[in-house]
Amino acid sequence: MNGIRILVVLAILSGWCMADDKSALATEVYRIFNAKCADCHGSHLPKPKGKFGYVLDLARLGKNAKFITPGDVEDSKLYQMVEDNEMPGEDADVPPLTPDELKTVAAWIKAGSPGLPADAPLPAPTPVVKKSRPFFPRLLAWFGKFHSATTHFPVGLLMAAVLAEALAWLTKRESWLLVVRFLVIVAAASAPMVATLGWLNAKYENHNDPLTEWHRWLGITTAVWAIVCAVLVCVSECEEGSPERKRFRGALLLGALLVSVTGFLGGALSNGGLDHYRW
Ligand code: HEC
Repeated sequence: MNGIRILVVLAILSGWCMADDKSALATEVYRIFNAKCADCHGSHLPKPKGKFGYVLDLARLGKNAKFITPGDVEDSKLYQMVEDNEMPGEDADVPPLTPDELKTVAAWIKAGSPGLPADAPLPAPTPVVKKSRPFFPRLLAWFGKFHSATTHFPVGLLMAAVLAEALAWLTKRESWLLVVRFLVIVAAASAPMVATLGWLNAKYENHNDPLTEWHRWLGITTAVWAIVCAVLVCVSECEEGSPERKRFRGALLLGALLVSVTGFLGGALSNGGLDHYRW
């Protein structure tokens, strides 16, 4: 009889200890994620990276089968990502998870990825110690910030060139042809620089989602195409009514289409989604 009592007490105690273990693990994991992920995935951010903004809501995170399979570390995408340092990633301001931190995250998943206990006071947010970038990468990252501003050049110039070309066609005035040539050449000169700044911006702001990839490659295509247009408008006299003019005109319209689509995707990236023009 006594033996059974002792067993019951032991069982209760061990259950209590395990629960306590789980809270301790969850608290530890919260600390780690707070220090290393919350900068990009915290719920306080208006636009968390990768549309994933609840890294500190362990109860919700632990139940999301896309990222975590409770009890199975190997099958948990989130663990694989932190283990390979895909997250926080080389370009992040925070260092990768230490081996000890990885062990803690693994133990938390093995324990069934529990949430923080409701009564536990949330651990105070760890102040993020930013690893400041060395001068040169920092300068490049800073240049990259000018991508959105400078992109108005090729966009506006190509559109203005279409308008001037339409006026040339309507009025048959030679002077418009000069205007078109000027606009297209300046557009072609600015586009490669804008594309380079865009590349830097994506690299240092850690943009690498599919939308960014579309924007990136369409942007580069547009820059190359602007140069093709500039060559076409310069190679021959390209007079009104000539076949060369028609060829250039087609190229310019395609360029305007490319720059519009690329600009639209760029707008979607900075304004939060493809539906950013919704009424
Ligand atoms: C410097 C910013 C940054 C930090 C810090 C960071 N991430 Fe990310 N994370 C991103 C970006 C950007 C994406 C989107 C990448 C993509 O879609 O390819 C992402 C995507 C993810 C995804 C996938 C989301 C999805 O829907 O597929 C997970 C999971 C993730 N991060 C977990 C973490 C964890 C865990 C940490 C901390 C250890 C962390 N991240 C730290 C920038 C960051």
